[in-house]
Amino acid sequence: MATILIVDDEENASKMLAQALESEGYDTLTASSGEEALQLCASKTVDLVLLDILMPGGIDGVETLTRLRQIKPQLNVVMMSAQKEIETAVKTMELGAKRYLTKPSSIDEIVYAIEPFLELSRLSQENEVLKEQIGPQDQMVGESVAMQQLRSQVSQVASSNLGVLIAGENGTGKELVANAIHQQSQRNRKPFIRLNCAALPEELIESELFGHERGAFTGATARRQGKFELADGSALFLDEIGDMSLKAQAKVLRVLEYGELERLGGTQTLHVDVRIIAATNKDLEREIEEGRFRQDLYYRLSVVPITVPPLRDRTEDLPVLVKHFVERFHKDSARTPKVIDSSAIQVMQSYHWPGNIRELKNIVERLLIMVNQDVILPADVENVLPISKTISQPDTVTVPQENRIQGGTSLLEMVDNAEANLIRNALDANSWNIKRTAEQLKIERSNFYKKLEKFNIKRPDDQ
Ligand SMILES: Nc1ncnc2c1ncn2[C@@H]1O[C@H](COP(=O)(O)OP(=O)(O)OP(=O)(O)O)[C@@H](O)[C@H]1O
Ligand SMILES: [Mg+2]
Repeated sequence: MATILIVDDEENASKMLAQALESEGYDTLTASSGEEALQLCASKTVDLVLLDILMPGGIDGVETLTRLRQIKPQLNVVMMSAQKEIETAVKTMELGAKRYLTKPSSIDEIVYAIEPFLELSRLSQENEVLKEQIGPQDQMVGESVAMQQLRSQVSQVASSNLGVLIAGENGTGKELVANAIHQQSQRNRKPFIRLNCAALPEELIESELFGHERGAFTGATARRQGKFELADGSALFLDEIGDMSLKAQAKVLRVLEYGELERLGGTQTLHVDVRIIAATNKDLEREIEEGRFRQDLYYRLSVVPITVPPLRDRTEDLPVLVKHFVERFHKDSARTPKVIDSSAIQVMQSYHWPGNIRELKNIVERLLIMVNQDVILPADVENVLPISKTISQPDTVTVPQENRIQGGTSLLEMVDNAEANLIRNALDANSWNIKRTAEQLKIERSNFYKKLEKFNIKRPDDQ
């Protein structure tokens, strides 16, 4: 049941209001000053505060509101104001009050005004409980046929001990799928160990995987266990396995086949029981043809292949995904919740999403931060989206708004602007992974760095 705190220096008035609210099924608390209200909010669970603006004596309603927002930014506060205080009441909305009511208001008017906010906090509390039960990591949002199939594949392979190879474009949710498999498996009581093969130079991958003895190489000052040892009895996630060197691949195959390994620089053979879940956004069959990936390892891993579909093939999931990211964003933020209108989501459905769900998450967050009004509309989406369309569909290049001809701009400048914009969008879509972005744009990495320098493009956090 929701608890409402009534803050009013006129004690009789708050007593009557409390009685009326209780007869409507709410719990109530009363405070006769701002100071008392702050104390109560700090020590008790309060879902909504009805706060009088004019309270002679101590701190007034506006000051109380400001301090309440500091200690409890998510708390719903509805102001109560006498007719002559209307102007102040309107201003309190900027300070974070949800709305204001003029005194006297009937109990029906009050209930009508507060109920939507209470309903919202009830829903978000239920959501929290559900999230706890499911665990924060493994929520795969989406009800499309493709997602349902994916979920059923996940539960089928989870119960086996077989290796799994998860394929899919950048940002489709491969790691989420890997987590879900481990969490649903019999090995789930032990931690899921992970290694991103693309993030490490070749020399380091082996020592990360197999560990090393003291003195195995310069800098190996102590013995170190590798990920395989740490994952004994559990599972190891080899992310971006397509980037693993052939030498490391041979050793991984040996662990898979015989459960055997030696630490670098070591002679003792160790025995481990590790399930491998691997992920890649490369076409491994092509890598095999080109001699960069071992066929026998591929067969071992792809006993159960899983492909995570790109977002553009399941745009019917966009509304729930957008809702999910909006909620997640507001959970850790003191800002007033914004809404992405369904017409704006429709615009998103026509986009190509080269960076898939990660790109969607970035775009939603960018819209929530950048757009000032409470409801996000199609035009806002068009402002942040269309440019990167051209990345994966180079033959249908559209000229983004900011690149249309402006008086006095030379062709060269326009081309530079367009190029810089394309690069920025591609970087965003790939979470600023330089290697991947350069590959996607088919530019040599060294050349790509030169372009970043030329256009002074920096990661947003570095600026
Ligand atoms: N079905 C989904 N529901 C909710 N969030 C998702 C879903 N799929 C992916 N995400 C989110 O999208 C982001 C990218 O997911 P993830 O890291 O699993 O993708 P990936 O395929 O491993 O990407 P990459 O190829 O870049 O490594 C994460 O923040 C993840 O939580
Ligand atoms: Mg990943």
